[in-house]
Amino acid sequence: MQVDELLQPFPIKEFHPFPRALLGPGSHELIGPEALKLGFKKTLIMTSGLRGSDIVHKISESMKYHGIDVVIYDKVESNPKDYNVMDAYEAFSEGECDGFVSIGGGSSHDTTKGARIVAAHDGRNVNEFQELNASETLDNPAHIAINTTVGTGSETTPAYVITDLSSPDAPHKWVGFDRAAITTLAINDPVLCMTQPPQFVAYTGFDTMAHASEAYVGRVQHLSCTPVALAAVRMVQENLREATYNPKNYKAMEGMVWAQYIAAQAFSSALLGILHSLSHAVCAYYDIHHGLNNGVGLPRV
Ligand SMILES: [Fe+2]
Repeated sequence: MQVDELLQPFPIKEFHPFPRALLGPGSHELIGPEALKLGFKKTLIMTSGLRGSDIVHKISESMKYHGIDVVIYDKVESNPKDYNVMDAYEAFSEGECDGFVSIGGGSSHDTTKGARIVAAHDGRNVNEFQELNASETLDNPAHIAINTTVGTGSETTPAYVITDLSSPDAPHKWVGFDRAAITTLAINDPVLCMTQPPQFVAYTGFDTMAHASEAYVGRVQHLSCTPVALAAVRMVQENLREATYNPKNYKAMEGMVWAQYIAAQAFSSALLGILHSLSHAVCAYYDIHHGLNNGVGLPRV
């Protein structure tokens, strides 16, 4: 085989769709009208709690103001576990909810994606859906993802990552890549990201750097993604340091929000690489932050 052939093993490129999205200051305040448009009457809010901020309280009050009932599941963990997904499904089902709102970063969005798929399959265990497009139906409860970090991208990708604690291989972190997991609406409000502790800006910012770098150098070489990935690398380089040490700098945080959002769209079709493969294994075993692990591994990979 010639070197050129080895370097181009993806002659057919796939284009994955993105959900409708809102990005900008104040966009999270549209939650009530947007949820009403989707027909929400009783919503399960999914979050890790975001303790130290009043974001969850403000959003739930805003939904109630628009006549929507709210149930809160605030036990999402970092590196979300299979039992987080199943507990959330129980809360959704027992609460007779009709839609999901996730508030936070990748852990909250990914747990919600899993719970929607479980809800669409009558409560089957989430670990049954590890394959590519494993869902047997696309008829899931609607999901609005309100993002508060600068790294996940989960609000716009078909991917979600769950830690299986029940199989003989446990702890085993698996990636679902499923068109049924795509959210219904993604909201990125830089003002919400300004409430993050500095170390989380740094951790999640390095996850964005990893998404952009892997989409840029990967073998897929998807022309709709590589220029976008490179732009995201530049935006991280220009904004991450300032956003970390001065999270109240709106311009820097907005730059990071754009970077994390477009980097995720780039990797949705250009895919990721060895860094994320290593990171999922290491983070499952040691239960450490995905972005922190990526920051440590990125220069070596
Ligand atoms: Fe990542």
